[in-house]
Amino acid sequence: MIDLSDVHRTFVDGSHELKVLQGVNWHIEDGDSIAVMGRSGTGKSTLLNLIGGLDRKYKGGIKVDGQSLEKMSDKELTRFRNEKIGLVFQSFHLMDQLTTEENVMLPTWFSQKPGEYHQRSCDLLQRVGLADKIGKYPNRLSGGEKQRIAIARALVMQPKILLCDEPTGNLDEQTSEEVLQLFKELHQEEGITLIMITHDHRIAAATQKTMVLKNGRLEQD
Ligand SMILES: Nc1ncnc2c1ncn2[C@@H]1O[C@H](COP(=O)(O)OP(=O)(O)OP(=O)(O)O)[C@@H](O)[C@H]1O
Ligand SMILES: [Mg+2]
Repeated sequence: MIDLSDVHRTFVDGSHELKVLQGVNWHIEDGDSIAVMGRSGTGKSTLLNLIGGLDRKYKGGIKVDGQSLEKMSDKELTRFRNEKIGLVFQSFHLMDQLTTEENVMLPTWFSQKPGEYHQRSCDLLQRVGLADKIGKYPNRLSGGEKQRIAIARALVMQPKILLCDEPTGNLDEQTSEEVLQLFKELHQEEGITLIMITHDHRIAAATQKTMVLKNGRLEQD
């Protein structure tokens, strides 16, 4: 479960204040799959970064899996994020100097027992259809393959929540379809809560619900 109550985020640049989120209230049940749409610059990424614990400079309350993010220390939040939340971005954010399986294993290196996730990371690489890319480096992969690696990495710690910021934004139509199909299947298989920012109505149509961010507030479509 995720709960946002009266969340505000303002960016200050010198004497200029940009009020991006102006009282966002949102209740998300476990296992929901939700698309977030809205015009460029409305604050979709800002909102996702708050839920993902990447940005703490907000007012209001954010509860993820029963825990208030604002009550955690930075260290607690980092650990919480690594265990509970998977993140997927438009530009993949893979480490070029690590192999595909090292990229997938990366989040586990910050856990107590990385060894315990070795089998899962192999299974995930297989699951996303890239078992034959083990030992390869990301710069040798196509965009769709890179995103599959990023998805496997986001899932390796068995997070409860998967946050995706325009995950198909850099992919062609056909590859977007394939990645979307993968998201749909994984959402069901993993029983995960899926929140996906997108500009693509076909992708939004594949989720259970669509929310629109407008004038600093979130509305149901
Ligand atoms: N760190 C920052 N400092 C100052 N302003 C910022 C910062 N991050 C975002 N903004 C501003 O906040 C607004 C919302 O940005 P955000 O990236 O959340 O929009 P978005 O809805 O994700 O847009 P897009 O669809 O183009 O990705 C924009 O006007 C942006 O310039
Ligand atoms: Mg954005």
